Amino acid sequence: MDAIATRNLTKVYRGHIGRGAVKSLDRLTLTIAPNEVFGFLGRNGAGKTTTIKILCSLLRATTGEAFVMGQDTRRRATRKHIGYLPENPYFYEYLNPRETLDFYGELHGLTRAERAAEWDRLAGLLDLRDIAGQRVRGFSKGMRQRLGFAVALVGDPEVLILDEPMSGLDPLGRRMIRELILLLHGQGKTIFFSSHVLGDVEQICSRVGILVKGKLTTQGRLDELLNRRVNRVEIIATGLSEAAAAAVAARSDGVRESEQGRHFFVNDLDGANAVASDILQSGGTLVEFTPIRESLEEYFMREQETVS
Ligand SMILES: Nc1ncnc2c1ncn2[C@@H]1O[C@H](COP(=O)(O)OP(=O)(O)OP(=O)(O)O)[C@@H](O)[C@H]1O
Ligand SMILES: [Mg+2]
Repeated sequence: MDAIATRNLTKVYRGHIGRGAVKSLDRLTLTIAPNEVFGFLGRNGAGKTTTIKILCSLLRATTGEAFVMGQDTRRRATRKHIGYLPENPYFYEYLNPRETLDFYGELHGLTRAERAAEWDRLAGLLDLRDIAGQRVRGFSKGMRQRLGFAVALVGDPEVLILDEPMSGLDPLGRRMIRELILLLHGQGKTIFFSSHVLGDVEQICSRVGILVKGKLTTQGRLDELLNRRVNRVEIIATGLSEAAAAAVAARSDGVRESEQGRHFFVNDLDGANAVASDILQSGGTLVEFTPIRESLEEYFMREQETVS
């Protein structure tokens, strides 16, 4: 069974004065296996939050279906499998973190003893002890995000759906969230999170989906997506005569010089191997042979251009 599955999910928002209908999601089909860490990428307005709200039973799809742990998200009971971190978590500002978690524990039907145990577990995990008694009202973005994450984890759900969990955080805050996601992955949880912070996604996801204007343009394993694109190699050589260097340059797609030697750039792996062998045959020395992988950032930017 998939942990999360959507089939042709489409959402059209209606009823805006002076505006036509907006198709915010267009036949989105996704599958996420249990225990995956899935990064859901897209620019502002791509439809990430719309998707997440449908998965969390907070919004109805116009057409199509969505399932979490095999259960239809149109049934509110499906929510019990999900821990949800909203884009902008809302809190009762006059409660402190301990009271906040207690409140959500009650909503989950936990007993008093279970709620106390939950507080111990989550206060440790999210470093809430020092702020246990402070009202949320004065909290910084980072403190709110930690508390929001703790709320999502109340009741120990199997599937975590996180809407931009790292946005607005400083590098330390982002690292904490990354480490937490990896820890939860180690505990067998399925994690689905949206982001436009590509570096964060690159570091922790096994698979990604890229959403462009409501359409999924790419879904796949990160290493495969990027591997397919290893198509530029940088070769550094020394000890070449001017004539040999010119001959090698003619077979390359770019050249430059540095104190390390002559750099030759070749846009495919076979061509790069041929250039390396030319260098050796002309008496040169290979200093470096480096395939340049495309970063997720570059990949992402190109995907944006393919959908108009
Ligand atoms: N309640 C609504 N009524 C009308 N249009 C909406 C509504 N909510 C979202 N939209 C539109 O749907 C599209 C997708 O919005 P959504 O919030 O899902 O994007 P997002 O990928 O989460 O963006 P962001 O990165 O800014 O959070 C946008 O064009 C947005 O204007
Ligand atoms: Mg959003």
